[in-house]
Formats: sequence, C-alpha cells, structure tokens
Amino acid sequence: MFTAGGRRFVWNLFIIVLIFCILIIINTPQRMTPLPKQVEGWESNITRETKIYVIPENDTNIISSKTVCKGSFNLIIIVFSAPENFAQRYAIRETWGSYNITTVRVAFLLGCSKNSSSQLLVEEENAEFQDVIQEDFIDSYNNLTVKSVMMLKWFLSKCPSPTFLMKTDDDMFINIEYLSALISKINSRSVLIGSLICKAKPILDAANKWYIPKYMYQKPFYPNYLSGTAYVMSRDVASKLYTAALSTALIHLEDVYITGICAAKAGIRPRNHAGFSYEHFGIGCEAEMVTNHRLKPQELRQVWNQRNNCTTKIKPPTIKPKSINQCH
Ligand SMILES: *[C@@H]1O[C@H](CO)[C@@H](O)[C@H](O)[C@H]1NC(C)=O
Ligand SMILES: *[C@@H]1O[C@H](CO)[C@@H](O)[C@H](O)[C@H]1NC(C)=O
Ligand SMILES: *[C@@H]1O[C@H](CO)[C@@H](O)[C@H](O)[C@H]1NC(C)=O
Ligand SMILES: *[C@@H]1O[C@H](CO)[C@@H](O)[C@H](O)[C@H]1NC(C)=O
Ligand SMILES: *[C@@H]1O[C@H](CO)[C@@H](O)[C@H](O)[C@H]1NC(C)=O
Ligand SMILES: *[C@@H]1O[C@H](CO)[C@@H](O)[C@H](O)[C@H]1NC(C)=O
Repeated sequence: MFTAGGRRFVWNLFIIVLIFCILIIINTPQRMTPLPKQVEGWESNITRETKIYVIPENDTNIISSKTVCKGSFNLIIIVFSAPENFAQRYAIRETWGSYNITTVRVAFLLGCSKNSSSQLLVEEENAEFQDVIQEDFIDSYNNLTVKSVMMLKWFLSKCPSPTFLMKTDDDMFINIEYLSALISKINSRSVLIGSLICKAKPILDAANKWYIPKYMYQKPFYPNYLSGTAYVMSRDVASKLYTAALSTALIHLEDVYITGICAAKAGIRPRNHAGFSYEHFGIGCEAEMVTNHRLKPQELRQVWNQRNNCTTKIKPPTIKPKSINQCH
C-alpha cells in the first residue's frame, strides 16, 4: 500500500496532530474560564466617572415646571419614576400626594425615554400637573444612580427654598402628615435619615438582583447605608453628597452609592429612624409609619381610603436615642 517513507510520513503527521490536539485540550480550560458576569450598561470597559453623565458645568434639565419650586416651603419629596409609569404617578397624585400642606411639595423625577410617544405624553402630563422634573440621561433601572446624582444637582441648582429633600420611589406610600411633623422637630443641618442597613456584604451571585462584580466594588463590606425606598437629607448634606459623588466612581446600586459610599467619603453618618421601613405592610392602619413599600396603583388607593377610616391617631414623632443606630 504505502512505501516505507510514506508510512513514516503518515506516522509523523499522526504524532503532530496528536500533540496539537493535546495542546488544545490543555489550553482550553484556561481560555474558557468565564469572566465575571458584567452589569448591563456598566460593563468593565464603560467609564463610571460621574461627571461624564451628570455634566455639572451644564444645565441638563429638560422639563422643570416653574411652579414646582415657587414660593417658600420646607420639604420637597422627589419620587423616582420611569417615563412609562403614568399609572403610578396618577395614583400618587390622587392619594398621598394630594395631602394639602403648604410646607411639603411632591415632584416626580424622570430620565429620558427612547420612545418618542412616551415623551409627548410626559410633556402633556407636566402641562397639566406641573410636577414633573426631567433630566437628560436614559432612564433605566441600571441608571438609577445617575438619577440620584441628577436629583442632587437639580435640588441644589434649581430649588433653593426647601431645607429638606426626600428621595422615594413610585411604588411607595408616604405618610406626609407624619413626615412633616417629624421634620419640624429635627435639626435643619447634618440630617441623613431613613432605614439603616449595616455591614452589608456585596453580593457576588450573578443571579441576584443586587449582584455587584469585583470590577465595580472590591471591599468586603459596604459602608452603612439607607434603604433607597425612602431617605431624607438636609440641604448641607445634599451639597456634600453631590461634591463627593462628582469624584466617586458610579456603581449601579443607588442607595449604597449615595447614602453609603458618598456619605462615608463626605464624613456624614446615615442614621436610622424607626418610622422608615422598606417592607411591605399590606394595607392596614399603619399610622406611625412614614413609608410603606411595593404598592400597585390600586393598592395605593386602598391604603389612602383606608387611612380615613383609621381611628389610631398619629402619635407625636420622637427620635428615640436607642433607634438611631439600630440596623435592619
Ligand atoms: C465593551 O465591550 C463590549 C463587549 O464585551 C462591546 O460590545 C462594546 O462595544 C465595548 N464598549 C466600549 C465602549 O468599548
Ligand atoms: C456643555 O455645554 C456647552 C455649550 O452649550 C457645549 O459646547 C458642551 O459640549 C457641553 N458639554 C457636554 C459635556 O455636553
Ligand atoms: C390647598 O390649600 C390651599 C390653602 O391652604 C388652597 O388655596 C388650595 O386650593 C388647596 N388645594 C387643594 C388641591 O385642595
Ligand atoms: C411607546 O409609548 C407608548 C405610550 O406610552 C406605548 O403605547 C407604546 O407601546 C410604546 N412603544 C414601544 C415600542 O415601546
Ligand atoms: C445611562 O444614561 C447615559 C446617558 O444618557 C447613557 O449613555 C447610558 O447608556 C445609560 N446607562 C444605562 C445603564 O442605562
Ligand atoms: C370605611 O368605613 C366605611 C363606614 O364604616 C365603610 O363603608 C367603608 O367600606 C370603609 N372603607 C374602607 C376602605 O375600608
């Protein structure tokens, strides 16, 4: 069949192919080691420099009604809302947002939608209610931290009257009556209160909602921080947090970033207040609670209607010394 030379050639070829295969097999596992899962929109090659997104030197405001900050008042509640969440905003306006008290005002903060018909509806909505603030960035879940820093920017540059700023979400019930009583009793400086979370560990499980890869955060613990569902700060704190944020790399976890990392950098200690909760209380009479979480528009209406039936009178707010450092 083959000559001796031909056979040697086939044998040598076989050996070469075999060595080649072995080399591939040896090298493959190493080359296939998966990279840590990237956070969508914040992949490791994307800059997380705050200034690039917030552009502190420029006005990034797209919608801001002239009436939203007119006159003098004490607290502005900024409700984080996505452009498409029309139903949630309407429900808040009809329920806890309608609580008429001259010292408190409610406004909704939106980023931009890629959908131009949503944008038109948002403009019409603002023409009707004059309570929408829109800043120039893409509104998405992973951009909530950009939204927070934009909130501080807007508050400091466009809304000089209120001493206090509250951040909350559009699935929250806020007890404005209790809240306004509370802030009338606290200092007007160095305030950063909410539901305190202590010694939390960064979550490295990529399937978890709060996953954070090592390329974004390396330390074993987060600084103590407040749940993003609702927190209140005074103007001096807002100013320090904004300055700190402009030189702190963004992470997509809004509450950890603002009330934990930036606060620690600015030397501000977040404090717990017993009235704040990130839990879902159902729709009972929770007169003593400032906040209630995860409510759909219909549930907001139920809680609101129910409240008028509650016989429990709101107790005068107190900051119990014990509860200040309490953790959730
Ligand atoms: C970042 O990397 C991804 C692939 O991992 C690529 O699709 C994207 O274009 C890169 N972005 C930049 C800004 O380099
Ligand atoms: C800021 O505004 C100026 C003047 O309109 C413009 O030239 C510049 O590109 C803006 N900067 C950014 C980062 O968009
Ligand atoms: C809120 O109260 C003020 C005066 O306290 C009143 O002029 C205004 O009409 C009230 N608004 C609503 C929506 O009830
Ligand atoms: C754009 O927004 C409108 C109004 O919110 C909505 O009805 C429509 O489904 C949206 N289109 C897309 C492609 O998401
Ligand atoms: C956040 O907004 C910026 C500015 O609009 C945009 O470039 C970026 O893609 C957005 N990132 C995410 C995660 O949505
Ligand atoms: C409030 O009380 C009235 C009268 O007792 C009752 O008819 C109504 O259903 C109650 N509303 C709610 C939301 O519980």
